[in-house]
Amino acid sequence: MIIPGAFPHTRLRRIRRAEWVRRLVAEARLAPADLIWPVFVMAGHDLCEPVASMPGVVRYSIDRMVTAVGEAKALGIPAVAVFPAIDPVLKTADCREAWNPDNLVCRAVRAIKDAHPDIGVIGDVALDPFNALGHDGLVVDGTIVNDETVAALCRQAVVQARAGCDIIAPSDMMDGRVGVLRAALDGAGFADVLILSYAVKYASAFYGPFRDAIGSGGALRGDKKTYQMDPANGDEALREAALDLAEGADILMVKPGLPYLDIVRRVKETFAVPTFVYQVSGEYAMLKAAAQHGWLEENAVMLESFLGFRRAGADAIVSYAAVAVARLLQG
Ligand code: PBG
Repeated sequence: MIIPGAFPHTRLRRIRRAEWVRRLVAEARLAPADLIWPVFVMAGHDLCEPVASMPGVVRYSIDRMVTAVGEAKALGIPAVAVFPAIDPVLKTADCREAWNPDNLVCRAVRAIKDAHPDIGVIGDVALDPFNALGHDGLVVDGTIVNDETVAALCRQAVVQARAGCDIIAPSDMMDGRVGVLRAALDGAGFADVLILSYAVKYASAFYGPFRDAIGSGGALRGDKKTYQMDPANGDEALREAALDLAEGADILMVKPGLPYLDIVRRVKETFAVPTFVYQVSGEYAMLKAAAQHGWLEENAVMLESFLGFRRAGADAIVSYAAVAVARLLQG
């Protein structure tokens, strides 16, 4: 880097002196096109149920969700990610509801695609919403078994692709699932369906409110540290990303967001592939809670967090605040 002449020749405040020049020299940009909105869906009709630990976030019945997704689309948001709150009676240890072609996710995806064919729909592939034990994988004698889980994920991915998902997003962190999922999707005639791999997903305490939202938290015994990554590790994130790319991932996800900006930067710089970041439920909840107390200015901290993700190298941001932020950006 060239270090220019010092003061008084160089006055950095000159490029900050007015809004117009600050806009001209801004490096990171933020637009609705950079945002993905996660939506929670539940059974029933004309229902909209608040999630207590996520102020402003609700679980929608399918009909209400389709309307909300239409609003997101009108704001310029390119894609939504569907997460189901499954009726507890349908949660089992073998997770079989996950590959029922008429399960809540598949019904929701079909309804969105019928109403809004050109919004991207992302189907999360992991067993936790369907698992009586709350884990992302099948549990056998207290162990989360890898290869059996991957086989189950393939069945889940194929029913979701058949329902109309444009992107399959494995968020379970089993080894080898991206390659096996790619083969399963190709074999079922879905070679054009993308894989957005949660390649770098940490065993984070910031997921608590999400587990409330989908009703998986209560059942979960122990933690997810035997499959999700250790927050201490950065080099390991690059190994995870490299393996998923080798197995055929189209896009990588880093999750959570704000505590892992260094990882977003390293992944983006190392691989130069589309890299998304997930502002997870706990990040959202802490900003909203502080704003509700009047301790932080909600819009400003959301925009600043999103800009931080973009500056770190994220191509797109998954956030529960996506619709609110898209509204702000539209002015
Ligand atoms: C699990 C899954 C989780 C999230 C998305 N998919 C949580 C977990 O690993 O328990 C978290 C999202 C959030 O906290 O916003 N497959």
